[in-house]
Amino acid sequence: MQTALTERLGCRYPIVQTAMGWVADARLVAATGNAGGFGFLAGAVMTLPEIEDGIREIKRLTDAHFGVNFHMYVPHAEQIIDLCIQNNVRAVSYSRSPSADSVRRLKAAGVLCMPTVGALKHAVKAVELGADIIVIQGGEGGGHTGSVATSILLKQVRDAVDVPVVAAGGFSDGQDLIAALALGACGIAMGTRFLLTQESPVPDATKAVYLSTPPEQIITSTKLDGLPQRMILNPLLSRLEKASKLQMLALAVRNGLAFSQLTGVSVLGLLRSGLAMQKNTDLTLGQTMMAANAPMMIQEAMVNGHPAQGILPSGQVAGVITELPLVAELIERIMTEAEQTLARVQALQQ
Ligand SMILES: Cc1cc2nc3c(=O)[nH]c(=O)nc-3n(C[C@H](O)[C@H](O)[C@H](O)COP(=O)(O)O)c2cc1C
Repeated sequence: MQTALTERLGCRYPIVQTAMGWVADARLVAATGNAGGFGFLAGAVMTLPEIEDGIREIKRLTDAHFGVNFHMYVPHAEQIIDLCIQNNVRAVSYSRSPSADSVRRLKAAGVLCMPTVGALKHAVKAVELGADIIVIQGGEGGGHTGSVATSILLKQVRDAVDVPVVAAGGFSDGQDLIAALALGACGIAMGTRFLLTQESPVPDATKAVYLSTPPEQIITSTKLDGLPQRMILNPLLSRLEKASKLQMLALAVRNGLAFSQLTGVSVLGLLRSGLAMQKNTDLTLGQTMMAANAPMMIQEAMVNGHPAQGILPSGQVAGVITELPLVAELIERIMTEAEQTLARVQALQQ
């Protein structure tokens, strides 16, 4: 199946494995590439040496093209861009656009700029800044997310921009792929579906919670870091949802204490970074400290394997996923289902 996406990214199938912090590691990206999809390394939560190691490891495991995700506001953003250019990385993804100069630098070196957006105005702005391909993520998608559903956002963006659009948020199978292509997308991008595979590094205890959670228990909340984020409503998030401002501060301090014991970061240090962050936001001190703790709280579930004590970012689609295939099995199955779906729809005409 050839689309603008497969042509530009140089992959066999119009299926993207998106970046997910502490999940989309070199092994998952390489497995996706080897199976004919296109994977992004989760560089946004990595140090520069970790990204460099990740790129080296992907190249050791596959000859397939791949991409790197990063945040433009980390201090080493320009060095990540250098690294991607030096390593002939095929594409970069980001949610806040780097400067027009950085985008120009990437494009001049042949690196495709492929931002993810959750709203029409962000898509238009990203294209103005030079995006080559837009990934729209509808509100049902995992992690930080917008409020417009995938089907609506896709139509809005498809009609407003003149670059290929990839659809993300809520996809897991071949019927989804055909539906997205029918709506004008050039492919689908999936996070949660790839999180729930054999190659995903998420500990089994945490994967088991994803597999057993129904869609209505996967909610968006601003309680973690002030921005809407879709997560599993587990015991920790339930406490955060109900907490008053004072309880939020108490929870943040208690979490801070527990994590400082785990990680060796001093509570004073956490408080200092909380106060510094608060200056630039409308959040309360409790919310700001919680935001400063957020990465550690996510790692508690996604890396340390304690799903009740940590935070589990997830798309609603986890509610209809029941098993953990190998990445190659998943991608082959999606393509077979896509062919069957096309045949079934074409048969309606006879
Ligand atoms: C566990 C998890 C971590 C995520 N981390 C990131 C990230 O580091 N950077 C990013 O741009 N998007 C991140 N996302 C969003 C995904 O890349 C993707 O856009 C989203 O999962 C798509 O929706 P789906 O889960 O319904 O497929 C994350 C999503 C999840 C579920």
